Amino acid sequence: MQELESRLIESSGARRIMIATDGVFSMDGYFARLDEICCLASKYGAMVMIDDSHAAGFVGPTGRGTPEHFSVTDQVDVTTGTLGKALGGASGGYTSGRQEIIDLLRQRSRPCLFSNSVAPVIVAASLKAIHLIEEGGHLRTRLRNNTTMFRSRMTAAGFDVLPGEHPIAPVMYGDARAAIDASAQLLEDGIYAIPFSYPVVPKGRARIRIQPAAHTTLDIEHAIAAFERTSARKGDAVSG
Ligand SMILES: Cc1ncc(COP(=O)(O)O)c(C=O)c1O
Repeated sequence: MQELESRLIESSGARRIMIATDGVFSMDGYFARLDEICCLASKYGAMVMIDDSHAAGFVGPTGRGTPEHFSVTDQVDVTTGTLGKALGGASGGYTSGRQEIIDLLRQRSRPCLFSNSVAPVIVAASLKAIHLIEEGGHLRTRLRNNTTMFRSRMTAAGFDVLPGEHPIAPVMYGDARAAIDASAQLLEDGIYAIPFSYPVVPKGRARIRIQPAAHTTLDIEHAIAAFERTSARKGDAVSG
């Protein structure tokens, strides 16, 4: 936040200032401190733009994303997101904001002007996903329960899970080889979980990223048991 404030001070006098951030950072599952960001934006007359791909649909009491989580929905000017995650697993994305911003983007946004539109079948599936999200308090509750269960049981089993409350639960291995080997062993056990290493994450911070989504309690128990059967486990997992 100090760094952001210095940049805002540096930008004073600019015709427009915009702070751009992810709502949730994909590799760690960490939330941007959107409440503090919006405070700084208001202090320095900046607009706020967020990419809320990792929150839309399930973060916040009604799934309206990180701004709802921090109660700053009316202070965010532009939200972008993908239709490829909670909104249906399809492809394509969206930008939302005040009408004058959308009007401008319809004239100036190159991806909007020079690309084909989202395929009708994806539009229909995404609209259905949005309706499910509007009705889907029970799905969010299940996701929250799964997340708490996975995070706490994995930690109790001796794995190094980055702390937090977001469903992205990174199981840390540190060493890239260890993460790749563990992922391969999990796959043999029926669990498809992707390892990430440098340059996607910093060197020595390799991890397997888990998102316990619409799974049942049995699924989660099965996944934890599979993690326990991998050879790089408990004390072997490295916190970098
Ligand atoms: C934060 C964030 N924004 C945007 C995207 C891109 O989504 P898409 O592949 O649907 O364009 C991703 C992809 O994983 C992402 O993590």
